[in-house]
Amino acid sequence: MTEPTPQPQITVLDAGGQYCHLIARRVREFGIYADVCPSDTPAAALAGRRGIIVSGGPSSVYDPGSPSMDTAILASPAAVLGICYGQQLMAHLLDGAVRPGERGEYGLARLEIESPSALFDGLEPHQQVWMSHRDVVEAVPSGFSVLARTETCAVAAMADPARRLYAVQFHPEVVHTRRGREILSNFLFRVCGCEKDWDPRARIPLIERSIREAAGGRKVFFFVSGGVDSAVAYTLCRRALGEGRVQGAYVDTGLMREAETESVERAFPALGIVREQDAFLGALAGVSDPERKRLIIGEMFVDVQERILQSGRYLEEDWILGQGTIYPDTIESGGTAQADLIKTHHNRVAGIRRLIEANRVVEPLRSLYKDEVRAVGRELGLPGEILDRHPFPGPGLAIRCLCSETTAGLERLEDGWLIPVRSVGVQGDSRSYRAALLLDDPATDEDPRERATTIINRLTSINRVVAMLRSHARPEQMQVSPGGLTPDRLDRLRRADAIVRRLSHEHGFDGKVWQFPVVLIPLGRPGQPDSVVLRPVDSVDGMTAQAVMIEAPLADRICSELLEVDGVCAVLHDLTHKPPATIEWE
Ligand code: XMP
Repeated sequence: MTEPTPQPQITVLDAGGQYCHLIARRVREFGIYADVCPSDTPAAALAGRRGIIVSGGPSSVYDPGSPSMDTAILASPAAVLGICYGQQLMAHLLDGAVRPGERGEYGLARLEIESPSALFDGLEPHQQVWMSHRDVVEAVPSGFSVLARTETCAVAAMADPARRLYAVQFHPEVVHTRRGREILSNFLFRVCGCEKDWDPRARIPLIERSIREAAGGRKVFFFVSGGVDSAVAYTLCRRALGEGRVQGAYVDTGLMREAETESVERAFPALGIVREQDAFLGALAGVSDPERKRLIIGEMFVDVQERILQSGRYLEEDWILGQGTIYPDTIESGGTAQADLIKTHHNRVAGIRRLIEANRVVEPLRSLYKDEVRAVGRELGLPGEILDRHPFPGPGLAIRCLCSETTAGLERLEDGWLIPVRSVGVQGDSRSYRAALLLDDPATDEDPRERATTIINRLTSINRVVAMLRSHARPEQMQVSPGGLTPDRLDRLRRADAIVRRLSHEHGFDGKVWQFPVVLIPLGRPGQPDSVVLRPVDSVDGMTAQAVMIEAPLADRICSELLEVDGVCAVLHDLTHKPPATIEWE
């Protein structure tokens, strides 16, 4: 199969940082094709690159087994930029020295540029940068000079221009480094001499050719989820092979959002819609535990998919499987472990596994990032309602509809009320399943999210903090009561979600957040047994996330409409970052 991509000019070596894909995406935004490779990729495999960027990562260069790189790369014709851990690794592998800092430096810092360099061309001597490190470079390697410092970090940037080696302790790829784009641009164009060669839209004919090659004379079958990736991959295959040679199925689990199935039907009239609501809801009746919910949904998916593959005879020799796999999903590394984890239910389908093992799979988007997939989809004329969707979890509304088997009141604590509804969080490296705290008087705080963090660090019984936006009842009048994944609770959540989506779109708020889950919890009073939690977050890839404040005019409209929904008692706002909470409540 011809790769529908040019030879990369830049390779990002992944030292385990969550930002390695962000760096490659930033490079591609300049119109320069970049890929991501494991940090220990041999220099020979990278011959021809104009530049190598070594990413950040959570390790210390002195940890046993910490990521390293082939030192021949540092002597190769390619220019090298080390970022964060990448800078420390460069110092460590050459003859510099790295040591643990006296204190960590996390967040915004003021960079003082001390000597001129191609990297900082056109920049003022003082810059806002974003740092996240504890180790520091204590002594630069021979031939290097220090380019910049911050108050706590004496070597915030260093370079040996003669060997074309550059390094920064801060993160130019994140938006909080105000002139990060210029710094990367300086490296790419001035230091490496890159030329623009990348526009994903221009790749469409090449992608189509590679689909035809992969398919040979065979037909392609797709499970279309309604998400961006499978929609664009399915459309590309239909263009490449003709409509008669591509079949797709969409499974309606009954856990979709309002009008979602209809919107997929409208966009893809040829798609087979398989209605399995009763089977899914039947299997989930009476189940409250989040892990069991997930397991049951995963197993139901496996059953339904197997049945479709068998009954359509798609496992026979003249069919291959199409998948919407995108670039970050194809790489095995720390940074994408989560992507592997959350997609396990797909891999478990025996029929699909057999097709993958027999190499009977076509993945037209495997070198593209999400934004690039959207750009391709737009070029193909797919509707905005499909392309501009926020990510939506496979198990759908099931993990946003929280359940309880018992009745319990709220407990008065020092900072507020303990709500006895447990939800999932991530603290340290492990999962937690704890209650939430309803904060007293969040409006008096300049930023209640900071107080939320402090309280969670102190109270081990909780992993989330919420604020009451508006309510039909006072906390002391409210209680948690039994509620499961019933059609009427799912309908209530679906209505609430549709209201929030419509209003946040009207206010342009959906474009400002990465994702905006709407969650139903069984907290209320007789006749109004449920409350709605708003969970807007900002994120890069879902691995970490910041809770986002909601502007008052939007919050007002949302509350007014939600409190009109039958059975809804209160509207709450989740103030917790990830970690310690997760994005979804489960
Ligand atoms: P958490 O809740 O772990 O979620 O902070 C991180 C991101 O992953 C999404 N998510 C899923 N996506 N299948 C998916 O395709 C899943 O089972 C799944 N579970 C969580 C979640 O919506 C968020 O964007």
